[in-house]
Amino acid sequence: MIVTIDGPAGAGKSTVAKALAQRLGFAYLDTGAMYRAVALAALHRGVDWTQPEALARLARQIQIDFQNERVLLDGQDVSEAIRDWKITQITPYVADNAEVRKRLIELQRRWAQGRNIVTEGRDQGTLVFPEAECKIFLTASPEERARRRLAELQARGQSATLEQVLADQQRRDQEDASRAFGRLTRAPDAIEVPTDGLSVAEVVDRLAELVQSRQRGEKLRDPAAGRAT
Ligand code: DC
Repeated sequence: MIVTIDGPAGAGKSTVAKALAQRLGFAYLDTGAMYRAVALAALHRGVDWTQPEALARLARQIQIDFQNERVLLDGQDVSEAIRDWKITQITPYVADNAEVRKRLIELQRRWAQGRNIVTEGRDQGTLVFPEAECKIFLTASPEERARRRLAELQARGQSATLEQVLADQQRRDQEDASRAFGRLTRAPDAIEVPTDGLSVAEVVDRLAELVQSRQRGEKLRDPAAGRAT
């Protein structure tokens, strides 16, 4: 079974997707980490990420693997390095590159073969796994997402103001919405789950219920749209 979780930055996808995968005994795929890994490889190898052909060539050469939720780039654990601020700045060049996207989508589909997975990103329910049995669109208000992001930064010992985080988030939302290929949109058959005011455990409970009803073959009722999918 394939469970897709898409949504904007800061909606809590990673935390929730990991916990849900663990609860269900499914494998977890973090597709954002793949885009970040290409950005890191470009930085390490001195590849000009503003040159689309160079970046596409690089994406075909490198190897990205996942091992117990660690991200490996050519066999090296880069799980922390890909979260660096500089990598977050380079990654949109990677995500906007149609050739790179095609390559990563191919890897994502191959990785999913023969597995039960929870996969998270921006285009999982729309472009990568349109046939997925259970699709979630995770959202939260801009203020809630920014507050969570700020708490995360502070926990890592980094300082920023709420205004800075909100401005950065607005820019990322704009990038995600305006991408020519792989734009963030809700799949028509995805269930929207707003997470404002809910704890991680409460969100995971809700998603686990949705997956289990799908496993029983039930149609899902989307409270946001008031219709069954
Ligand atoms: O979710 P994240 O912050 O780790 O994602 C990193 C970047 O990759 C972000 O710019 C959005 C982009 N991305 C994408 O375009 N498609 C995906 N499936 C996952 C992430």
